[in-house]
Amino acid sequence: MPINTSLFDLTGRVALVTGGASGIGLAIAEALMLHGAKVVVGSRTQSKVDDAVAALLKLDHAHDDDHPPAVGVSLDVASQDSVDAAVQTCIDTFGGLHILVNSAGIMCKKPTFDLTADDMASLYDIHVIGALRAAQAAGHVFREQHDGCIINVASISSYVSLTEVTAYACAKSAMMGLTHSLANEWAKHGIRTNGVAPGFIPTDINRKMIEGTDRGRRILEHTPMARFGTSDEIAGAAVYLASDAGKFTNGITIPVDGGYLASGIGDSEAPWAAQG
Ligand code: NAI
Repeated sequence: MPINTSLFDLTGRVALVTGGASGIGLAIAEALMLHGAKVVVGSRTQSKVDDAVAALLKLDHAHDDDHPPAVGVSLDVASQDSVDAAVQTCIDTFGGLHILVNSAGIMCKKPTFDLTADDMASLYDIHVIGALRAAQAAGHVFREQHDGCIINVASISSYVSLTEVTAYACAKSAMMGLTHSLANEWAKHGIRTNGVAPGFIPTDINRKMIEGTDRGRRILEHTPMARFGTSDEIAGAAVYLASDAGKFTNGITIPVDGGYLASGIGDSEAPWAAQG
């Protein structure tokens, strides 16, 4: 029997990826594009956006220069006008929008005694309210066509405490609340909302915190696969959620973490457990 590979085919779909100029967002944009979607990558820094689009177009050697499968847009998810303009860019450039990936994010690491209300507000504004702004703007398009998919990038800190990142953890936990709420309320409009919770992926947001540090060593001790992940290892979950393969999947967040959440007592044969 022939294998039906069209389950993951995204031909004819248009995706907007916030925070799409780097790291996990860029890897998701790449995977969506390579599965047939047209992609719009949005981020605050225009030069980063331009570089990201150039990298994406290099992957699609056969593309027609007059009709590139990827374009960029300067986007600040803290501004409703900017988010609305990015959605309009999708429509003007590719004639529609079907997939929204909320990957824009910032980090705040400090002891919780030092955490300020401004820190909390700023993390909420980018992660939670930013995702809501984008979901509402895209949601109007999705509701009209009774077809749309939202993917929120959550985190392991949506599930467990990672010390001294309280504002981030609160925001990422709220992302899961947003995912549940939209999944419940908007399914009747043909909109599925899900999340991906990446494990530890060294990117601009956290590289200094986890590479070659004691924190990084402790993370690896608790990761059964004993390594950090890569951004492209997160992207497959997004392709699944965006495609027909995931068409009955709604309201869940998929951890992609090398087993971090599953680990309790580590493997006694792991290298770090070896007695000197
Ligand atoms: P990254 O720093 O490469 O990506 C974040 C992107 O968001 C950057 O391109 C940044 O310019 C953009 N951004 C920040 N504020 C923005 C705003 N106001 N408007 C538009 N774009 C904005 O880091 P990474 O790791 O790729 O992060 C992507 C998402 O994945 C974030 O939401 C992060 O919290 C989440 N995440 C990352 C993990 C990791 O280990 N790297 C683990 C779990 C979640």
